[in-house]
This record gives sequence, C-alpha cells and structure tokens, in this order.
Amino acid sequence: MEAGYLIETQNLRKEFGALVAVDNVNIKVKPNIIHSIIGPNGAGKTTFFNLLSGNLPPTRGRVYYNGKDITHLPLHRTAHLGIGRSFQITNIFPNLTIFENIRLACQALGRGNFRFMRSHKKFKEFEERSWEVIHQVGLVDEALFPARTLPHGGQRKLELGIILAADPEVLLLDEPTAGMAAEQVPELIDLIRKVQKAGDKTVMLVEHNMNVVMSISDYITVMHQGQVLAEGTPAEIAANEVVQSAYLGQLYGDLQVN
Ligand SMILES: Nc1ncnc2c1ncn2[C@@H]1O[C@H](COP(=O)(O)OP(=O)(O)O)[C@@H](O)[C@H]1O
Ligand SMILES: [Mg+2]
Repeated sequence: MEAGYLIETQNLRKEFGALVAVDNVNIKVKPNIIHSIIGPNGAGKTTFFNLLSGNLPPTRGRVYYNGKDITHLPLHRTAHLGIGRSFQITNIFPNLTIFENIRLACQALGRGNFRFMRSHKKFKEFEERSWEVIHQVGLVDEALFPARTLPHGGQRKLELGIILAADPEVLLLDEPTAGMAAEQVPELIDLIRKVQKAGDKTVMLVEHNMNVVMSISDYITVMHQGQVLAEGTPAEIAANEVVQSAYLGQLYGDLQVN
C-alpha cells in the first residue's frame, strides 16, 4: 500500500447475487483526519464499512490497514487491530447503567489480551478507563442510571463511548446522527471532532446531513451505485459539477457551503 495512508482498498467489490453493492472501489484514507463517505441511499456506504471492518467478506479486492492485508480478517480481529465501528442497530444494554455498558465494552473489546479476569489490578484499570471514557463523552452525571433512561442524543454519546472503550485508532461511524433531533446534532458532531483531535484518531463518517458533512470533514468520497463518483476536500466536492448534477443538486438543493 502507498506510504502516508492508514487504510487503502484496492478494487474492493461486493456482490449480493446479481447486485453489485460495492463496485471495484479504490479509496485511500490518511491518518488523523475525518474522512466522510457520502452518497444516496443504496450507494454502498454501509456495505463498504462492512468490508473494511470484516463484518462481511468481499467478493474480490483487498483491504490494507497500517501496511497489513486485513482483507479476510473477521470483525473481532480488525477490532483488536484498532478498527472500531458503530452499527446502525445499537448495541446498548438498556437495563445496565451507562457505566456498566462502558465497562463491558472496555473488557470485551480492549486491545491486548483477555486474561483480565484473573487480575484485580486489571479490573481496577477497566474501571478507571471506563470513567475516562464517560468523561470524554460527557455522561458523568448520568453514569449510574440505566441506559434506557437516556434521551436519544445521550444514547448516541453512549454508543460513541462503547466504541471508544476499546481505544481504537480508527472509528467507522455509520450515520451517528440518524434520528436525532436537529438541535442535538451539533453537540454530537463537536464531540466527534473533539475525540478525533484529542486521540489522534482517524474517523470515517457516513452522514446524510450535508451541512454537517461539509463543516466537519477533512476529505470526502462520494459514492454512487457502488462506485466512487468523486473525492476531494469539502470545497472541491461542493464545486464538482459531476457531483452536483448526479447528487448534490437533486438531493441537497438547499446546501449552503461557506
Ligand atoms: N446483506 C445484503 N443482502 C443483499 N443486498 C444487500 C445487503 N446489504 C446491502 N444490500 C444492498 O446493497 C446496496 C447497497 O446497500 P448499502 O451498503 O446499505 O447502501 P447505503 O449504506 O449507501 O445506503 C443496496 O442496494 C442494498 O439493498
Ligand atoms: Mg447505510
């Protein structure tokens, strides 16, 4: 893979029967940035994340991460290598407290070995790490309440905390603001940026709100019918005529780019 990149896909392809969901995609992701994937419903964004994280095997092509070929590694192996991902279906335990949810995630997903059960010291470390994450996502006051009592925006913060618990190097966030009230979106977006900066993390983001995408992203890849339609900085994407006619113009006629 090319130097200077953290993730690279080569001719990555996923077929579901006759349908080509991801069609020979070549994407390079630089470290320590927010790299968004946009595109209309059905463009293949979620499938692409599934291929990166090892949640689905590709039909063809390769995925490289940190110089290593991870194409056929399953989800738990890519997680241990530092790729954390969210799912559109939430994996919160509603009757456990916020703290317990985070602690479980620390124990289950942490990089390194699994021998923590034997060691009281390790247990303490998990507790401390859990509080650190709870601070980071701003859920200290609610930490000892059952997760089900959180409002929608709080649940999204908890999901972010569950991913962060494993201290991943890469976060794959698939529509983290979906279903949120508009006025709660900026806070979550600020949090994502803060987390990315503070931890030198690389965030890959699928997000439908174009104003959010344009303001938060360092780089954008536009997908359309499984293929890469365009890539560039937010300004380049907003000015791209192919993107405008195929996508932004129709779907986001009200887009404001500053
Ligand atoms: N497990 C699956 N089995 C069959 N078809 C699928 C599966 N997952 C996704 N698809 C199809 O692949 C295409 C891309 O879907 P998806 O990756 O979810 O797009 P996006 O996330 O961009 O909306 C869609 O046509 C979708 O119906
Ligand atoms: Mg999707």
